[in-house]
Amino acid sequence: MEVKPESFYRLCVRSCVVVSTASPRGISNAAPFSFNMPVSFSPPIFAIASQPSHDTWRNIRETGEFVVNFVGEELGEKMHILEQDFPYEVSEIEKAGLTEMPSKKVKAPRIAEAYAWLECRLEHSVTLGDHVLIAGRVLHAEVKDECMQDVVDVSSAKPLLHISGSAFAVPELRRFKRA
Ligand SMILES: Cc1cc2nc3c(=O)[nH]c(=O)nc-3n(C[C@H](O)[C@H](O)[C@H](O)COP(=O)(O)O)c2cc1C
Repeated sequence: MEVKPESFYRLCVRSCVVVSTASPRGISNAAPFSFNMPVSFSPPIFAIASQPSHDTWRNIRETGEFVVNFVGEELGEKMHILEQDFPYEVSEIEKAGLTEMPSKKVKAPRIAEAYAWLECRLEHSVTLGDHVLIAGRVLHAEVKDECMQDVVDVSSAKPLLHISGSAFAVPELRRFKRA
């Protein structure tokens, strides 16, 4: 079956993260992002792609900071609250009934119900097509103990993956060893 080039993303099953930021006055903001990826080991860099009009990008531009919250399946229902276009400085974290908690290295808050967090400082941004690619230096990374073995424990964390619209997926761990 042929897929329109503009619909290519429907072929990509992507991790769904929630990016939390704060305005310069310290009011929190959060939004789901499934256009996201690790970029570099050393220095550690993680990137998201945001539409330029998003409050997330405004806050990152103005404060240079953001937190990547890795969320599990139990927060799936919250994505469509978090994605709503509330006015600037209305906190989606509050609207979604989630809990804000302080970060360790940045002023942007974490979301307590996430299972892991990357606290990031803006490293580089570039406009590509209709999105801005926002790359952040990972200053601090943390995961809930019960969600970590040698790698993230997907049976406990149940990481939420996104495909398109209301279509999500949850992975199972498989290890493929070299023969
Ligand atoms: C599961 C999911 C994934 C999303 N991924 C992205 C994304 O990667 N990039 C983007 O610009 N918008 C994405 N959106 C839309 C934004 O989350 C939405 O427009 C939000 O209102 C932006 O909020 P903000 O203005 O507070 O930053 C996604 C929405 C959902 C529900």
